[in-house]
Amino acid sequence: MERTTLGRTGLSVSVAGLGCGGHSRLGQSHGHSTQQSVAVVRAAIDAGVNFIDTAAAYGTEGIVGQAIRDCRDQVVISSKLGVVKPGTNHLGQDFLSAAEFVQLAEQNLRRLGTDRIDIFHLHGVAHSQYAYCERELVPALHKLREQGKIRFLGLTERFVQDTDHRMLRQALQDDHWDVVMTGFNLLNPSARYSVLKQTQKKNIGTLIMFAVRRALSQPDAAIAVVQDLVANGMVRGDLMDPENPLGFLSEPGVADSIVEAAYRFCRHEPGTHVVLTGTGSTEHLAENLAAIGKPKLPEATLMLLQNLFGQVDSISGN
Ligand SMILES: NC(=O)c1ccc[n+]([C@@H]2O[C@H](COP(=O)([O-])OP(=O)(O)OC[C@H]3O[C@@H](n4cnc5c(N)ncnc54)[C@H](OP(=O)(O)O)[C@@H]3O)[C@@H](O)[C@H]2O)c1
Repeated sequence: MERTTLGRTGLSVSVAGLGCGGHSRLGQSHGHSTQQSVAVVRAAIDAGVNFIDTAAAYGTEGIVGQAIRDCRDQVVISSKLGVVKPGTNHLGQDFLSAAEFVQLAEQNLRRLGTDRIDIFHLHGVAHSQYAYCERELVPALHKLREQGKIRFLGLTERFVQDTDHRMLRQALQDDHWDVVMTGFNLLNPSARYSVLKQTQKKNIGTLIMFAVRRALSQPDAAIAVVQDLVANGMVRGDLMDPENPLGFLSEPGVADSIVEAAYRFCRHEPGTHVVLTGTGSTEHLAENLAAIGKPKLPEATLMLLQNLFGQVDSISGN
């Protein structure tokens, strides 16, 4: 597994990271047992993945803790905490105080069974929440860092609602963040200009989420999303087969599947360090890691994708 340096953190990380959230949550959303999910994390580590992303909200920190018990020092742990009081509207203003935030972060550490989290993010921050986060929670993150409980400060966006990265565009004007996580995929590559240019300039570690999600892993979802974009005049329908609009991605000489093309698209985008893959299936994991290890998509395919979806900033592919 290829490694890269995660921006200014200096951490050496695998270019593929295991995402323990998303729709699958290591298969917990599909009824997997704890042991089955632990086996997915172990399979990723055995395949050379050293970057593991989880969060309080996913219910998978304990699983990760079990899986890394014997190899804590060989992995980079990324975890997160939301910014509103548990049980309240994620997009609302019922914020955790700095003291509550620090107290809850201790629970992340306990669930993970570790004394330090390498990257600790404010999780899924909306644009309307950023000012509070900057004022009240950045000092809390610094306090945790001074105590040695976290090593680097991270920030993730709420991509399903914030498809054009309004929050990160503001946050990247500050100098607080060592690492950010952004939504990026071949249907909505808008982070290329609004996020990745800035992260490269500031040498900020950059994690990619939503490489695949539903729209690029389920054929019916792909058709629905593309039809919607065509109907709204965002994308030219005459350049695609209406019954199989993304079929050109799995033609000979391009990629073996749409999922493979989707991961390769993200992996080779300048400015991306770690592409997260979220799965509860060891078969999907093996396929996805192989895809992330493959070369860039052909230039003609990239050009077609740019012509089709290059201007899209209104969907996440969720
Ligand atoms: N705001 C935030 O902070 C935020 C939000 C969302 C996600 N994230 C992070 O980003 C990570 C990546 O996002 P994601 O989990 O949505 O990942 P993703 O890789 O874009 O999509 C994963 C989804 O596709 C399915 N899938 C994966 N490989 C497949 C394959 N080869 N064939 C068919 N289906 C496949 C998975 O289900 P199976 O289990 O069936 O494989 C899962 O439902 C998350 O796990 C989480 O760590 C963060």
